[in-house]
Amino acid sequence: MALISAFTPVFGAVLCGIIAFFFFRTSWRSESSSGQNPPRTSGESSRPWVDEDLQDDTEISGKDNEDDDWTVSETENLPHVPYSPPRYSEEEMMERSQQFFTLLNQRRSVRFISPEPVPRDIIHNVIRAAGTAPSGAHTEPWTFVVVGDSETKHRIREIVEEEEEINYKQRMGDKWVNDLRRLRTNWVKEYLDTAPYLILVFKQTYGVLPDGKKKTHYYNEISVSISCGLLLAALQNVGLVTVTTTPLNCGPQLRLLLRRPANEKLLMLLPVGYPSPDATVPDLTRKQLDDLMVFV
Ligand SMILES: Cc1cc2nc3c(=O)[nH]c(=O)nc-3n(C[C@H](O)[C@H](O)[C@H](O)COP(=O)(O)O)c2cc1C
Repeated sequence: MALISAFTPVFGAVLCGIIAFFFFRTSWRSESSSGQNPPRTSGESSRPWVDEDLQDDTEISGKDNEDDDWTVSETENLPHVPYSPPRYSEEEMMERSQQFFTLLNQRRSVRFISPEPVPRDIIHNVIRAAGTAPSGAHTEPWTFVVVGDSETKHRIREIVEEEEEINYKQRMGDKWVNDLRRLRTNWVKEYLDTAPYLILVFKQTYGVLPDGKKKTHYYNEISVSISCGLLLAALQNVGLVTVTTTPLNCGPQLRLLLRRPANEKLLMLLPVGYPSPDATVPDLTRKQLDDLMVFV
């Protein structure tokens, strides 16, 4: 008994400590969930390379579907038509698959782009090819903004370089900067001035119909990413080069500069042109088939 009473103040202090800990933890949590805590900067995030502006709001729009602003599902009676694409012999298939692989295997991200002009109609065709991508429920949630005007390209460069310098020096941390070292990239993006065209790919998080109602764009980010893949293949097919870039934290400024509406978010920025005569690329090797495919 004497022992217990000697320790009673200690037990009391420990008990108070535990109660205080749980109290503060609970109140902090409820503050966070009510959105009263200060917004986290990208540098504090555990995944600073994920652009918060790109957060997919399909779930939000799904909820908002109950509102009057949103359209109900289309009732049009879409006809279905016969479909018969070309059929090749197995020899032709083998040859075509080999040729297509050879073409795409030559694709590299090129950061040295010549100012030599590129016919605009070719850009139209590669974007048409990108627009053939499948999209959730045929929503076609993409906008390709092609910038050929020198002043606008330069303004884009200023915005991107300003943000990228902060990304490299402050937001991203040593690991990210180290991982990129072998690519020899930094925040200086000369290609944003030299490339004859910059293609900025925006995902439309929802659509706006002529009557002003909103339409949910399911899977919009996956659809636009597929479309970007086709765009890269189409550019490779005509001998043009690009580098897929995702300029972190630049989306809102670039959207305003290009006067795009609020439902559009920048997914990718592709400088497009011929490679500079002295262009180099990092000597990377691709995975072999056995390392990237599992056959069951
Ligand atoms: C989603 C994604 C984002 C990328 N973002 C950038 C970028 O912001 N800046 C850059 O210089 N390269 C960027 N790249 C290019 C990669 O560095 C490049 O694809 C990779 O090094 C492989 O080289 P390759 O494209 O020549 O095969 C990005 C690539 C992908 C797929």
